[in-house]
Amino acid sequence: MNWLENRTDDDKVKQNEVLAIGNLPKHVAIIMDGNGRWAQQRTMPRLSGHKQGVETVRDIVKASSQLGVKYLTLYAFSMENWKRPQKEVSGLMKLLEFYLKNEVEELHANNVRIRSIGKLNALPKPVHKILQKAIDHTEKNDGLTLTLALSYSSRWDIVRATQMISLDVRRGKLSPEDITEETFTDYLLTKDMPDPDLLIRTSGEMRISNFLLWELAYSEIYVTKKCWPDFERNDLYEAISCFAKRERRFGLTSAQLIDQSNSSSYLQRVVNAITNR
Ligand code: IPE
Ligand code: IPE
Ligand code: MG
Repeated sequence: MNWLENRTDDDKVKQNEVLAIGNLPKHVAIIMDGNGRWAQQRTMPRLSGHKQGVETVRDIVKASSQLGVKYLTLYAFSMENWKRPQKEVSGLMKLLEFYLKNEVEELHANNVRIRSIGKLNALPKPVHKILQKAIDHTEKNDGLTLTLALSYSSRWDIVRATQMISLDVRRGKLSPEDITEETFTDYLLTKDMPDPDLLIRTSGEMRISNFLLWELAYSEIYVTKKCWPDFERNDLYEAISCFAKRERRFGLTSAQLIDQSNSSSYLQRVVNAITNR
């Protein structure tokens, strides 16, 4: 199914409204939280919440791709989540396997590149295998990059990167004085993607839960009370629209930013005049 051709008229209008604001985030990261509570509120088992959460994933991936977001990173399973009851963990792994099996072809057909960050060899063998297959199969796609954070812990990644850097120093490939923020970033699992512009967390929790600690340094945060299974594409549009209207100052003052944008549009006018556009 071609996602762009399969939009309702109403949805096209809504997406165009979001795009008209401009400032579309290049990278959206989501902490998909509240599946368990969603189920418990309905006196259903927690796993039903996770099942419903997969439906949300399917639609949010589609909507992000339709909007032209370049990177979507979903926190699907943390390293700490391994400590949950065995039944829940194995149910989640089965769901992951099911999602990958069923969705890969449609994702591939829509130019989505699948990636994953985390301690992937901790995943059950069949899951790891199917995940690797999905990554390899979609490697050359250049539409949306969908990164699944699985068995992920940001502290673990930072420590891992530090170990790799130390090894390179010991081997003489790197000297300590050359370690900059850029070098450090190059050793993280997220090295090939820009930092998230927008972080969304569902279910109202105001915390980061060991997700992308380094990469979120200047991300805009959007928290919604809705639990993940209730999160709809309209909520994504709302989050993106809210993001697009914010002023990201990166430590500067408002006045400095205004100056900068004036001079860059002046520069743009000069460039346009030169290139006769
Ligand atoms: C998020 O929902 C999904 C995972 C962590 C795998 P939760 O399962 O954390 O749901 P709550 O927070 O208990 O409601
Ligand atoms: C964060 O949710 C991890 C995922 C969404 C996969 P948790 O439910 O595990 O986080 P805490 O325990 O509430 O901080
Ligand atoms: Mg939770």
